[in-house]
Amino acid sequence: MASFHHRWSLTFFFIVATLALIAQAHAAGYSTPSVTFKATPWQLAHATFYGDETASETMGGACGYGNLFNSGYGTDTAALSSVLYSNGYSCGQCYQIKCTQSKDCYPTIVTVTATNLCPPNWSQDSDHGGWCNPPRTHFDMAKPAFMKIAQWKAGIVPVSYRRVPCIRKGGIKFSFQGNGYWLLVYVMNVGGGGDVASMWVKGTKTNWLSMSHNWGASYQAFATLSGQALSFKLTSYTSHETIIAINVAPSNWQVGMTYQANVNFH
Ligand SMILES: *[C@@H]1O[C@H](CO)[C@@H](O)[C@H](O)[C@H]1NC(C)=O
Repeated sequence: MASFHHRWSLTFFFIVATLALIAQAHAAGYSTPSVTFKATPWQLAHATFYGDETASETMGGACGYGNLFNSGYGTDTAALSSVLYSNGYSCGQCYQIKCTQSKDCYPTIVTVTATNLCPPNWSQDSDHGGWCNPPRTHFDMAKPAFMKIAQWKAGIVPVSYRRVPCIRKGGIKFSFQGNGYWLLVYVMNVGGGGDVASMWVKGTKTNWLSMSHNWGASYQAFATLSGQALSFKLTSYTSHETIIAINVAPSNWQVGMTYQANVNFH
């Protein structure tokens, strides 16, 4: 009976200690991600490429990351067919792609970030040029990325792909647009699942304000937030985990600037 009691109080101690640690993490301004995004099983799709070797066409894109060299995504990027793109909620996700079942394949596996939408072309059949038409899962890769997995002359190749965790350096980045009454934020450098389902902003003088999805990887708040340091709360689209980034932008924040948190998903 004594040992039973002893074990029980030990268990109780651990529960209390764990709760205290969680409370402490929250007080410090972030919730330690407890979920680690795991790679999905391999599936089949097809891949093509767009642009040329300079990848100048990877500037811009439907996710809104702008210049992909400046935003850190570079040329290991791809446009997703609308089935995969999920109306922009897949922006920032990471995929491993390898060429399969073609004499034009190289054995390399490339990891790309989803930065763009490959729109349907309804004037082409889905088996004859309309590669990105629903219900096809298709990757239209930046040419340098495609050239790692296959001879570019192949044009289109069958591929195996899977989602993998995004490995990012440092915290989530928030790129600001808008004006004094409207804050539009592009979320970049997201680790783990790489994606964002919902987002809130908090000024030093406001409560948490829900932001609405604008397009691609951007979220907006219609509120007067100038002159206030800003914090963000984000929920991952894939893992549903929530993360809080306190005082990411200083009170003298400006549109056109990018601010980096010290927290990220994993
Ligand atoms: C769609 O396909 C047609 C027919 O091949 C082509 O002329 C047109 O340029 C394509 N549209 C886009 C936006 O790529």
